[in-house]
Amino acid sequence: MADQAQRLREFVRERQSRARVLAITSGKGGVGKTNTSVNLAIALVAQGSRTVLLDADLGLANVEVLLGLNSLYNLQHVIDGEKRLMQVLVKGPGGIDVIPGSSGIAKLADLGPIARQNVLNGLKEVQEEVDFVIIDTMAGIGQNATAFAAAADEVLLVTTPEPSSIVDAYAMVKTIHGMRDDAIFRVIVNMAATPQQANAVAAKLNKVAQQYLGRSLSYLGYIPRDPHVAQGVMQTYPFSLKFPNAPATKCVEELARRIIHQRAEVDRGRPGFFKRFAQSLGLVSNG
Ligand SMILES: Nc1ncnc2c1ncn2[C@@H]1O[C@H](COP(=O)(O)OP(=O)(O)OP(=O)(O)O)[C@@H](O)[C@H]1O
Ligand SMILES: [Mg+2]
Repeated sequence: MADQAQRLREFVRERQSRARVLAITSGKGGVGKTNTSVNLAIALVAQGSRTVLLDADLGLANVEVLLGLNSLYNLQHVIDGEKRLMQVLVKGPGGIDVIPGSSGIAKLADLGPIARQNVLNGLKEVQEEVDFVIIDTMAGIGQNATAFAAAADEVLLVTTPEPSSIVDAYAMVKTIHGMRDDAIFRVIVNMAATPQQANAVAAKLNKVAQQYLGRSLSYLGYIPRDPHVAQGVMQTYPFSLKFPNAPATKCVEELARRIIHQRAEVDRGRPGFFKRFAQSLGLVSNG
């Protein structure tokens, strides 16, 4: 497992100048990961970023259901070496490209080295073509979810205001932090009653992470509890396309804006190797 995470990380590091890989995770299930992934991907495309959505919830392939897609090929064919990842990409609503998951396959950690390499090679190829790869992961601290989260450039942690969801979100942070202490976490509070409530939830999570892990979690934003979300689910069509003026849609668009904007911040905030090296030698100031 440690080996696998290490290899995924190296792979991602090599590719850092390519697409930004964002893993959508949560501790508790059913908090809105898939809806967030799908509608965030659509908002990123609408704001001019080429975006691929990877359904890595290998237990139940939810993304396809939510998008009303029924594709012939999926991740399983890549794992089996029958298709390249590029060949299983399907166009979803709103101009997103989707890599359909496969129901019922074993955990990523249980895959053999060839199968894993098939997936990694494909991801490498995809990453060269787009701006964002959004990974909808499984809930909880299972190996599949954490392997993807630990390999991603950023972990978007979804929680609701419910105490059990917050506690499980913290457990997820702790697990990923244990695998990789430089992971970047951004908190999304879903099903918030008010922006103030969302703020308080994010602040609480941040405080606990600071206290027990010595690290901070940045707050990306919130999505309100909004009946349009469930209506979209019932109609197997993304709520943001069905209801462009819904409060949840407006908030997802704002999340996308912040993510795109943060690219510049991340790039500015992360000096290149030579600058860092020079700083450590005291040749240039830290400013
Ligand atoms: N902002 C929201 N407002 C109202 N209802 C919501 C909201 N977000 C999600 N829901 C409801 O919660 C259900 C679960 O959402 P979703 O499938 O996105 O969660 P998930 O975290 O992906 O679940 P799983 O852990 O099973 O993969 C949706 O079907 C929808 O009815
Ligand atoms: Mg899901």
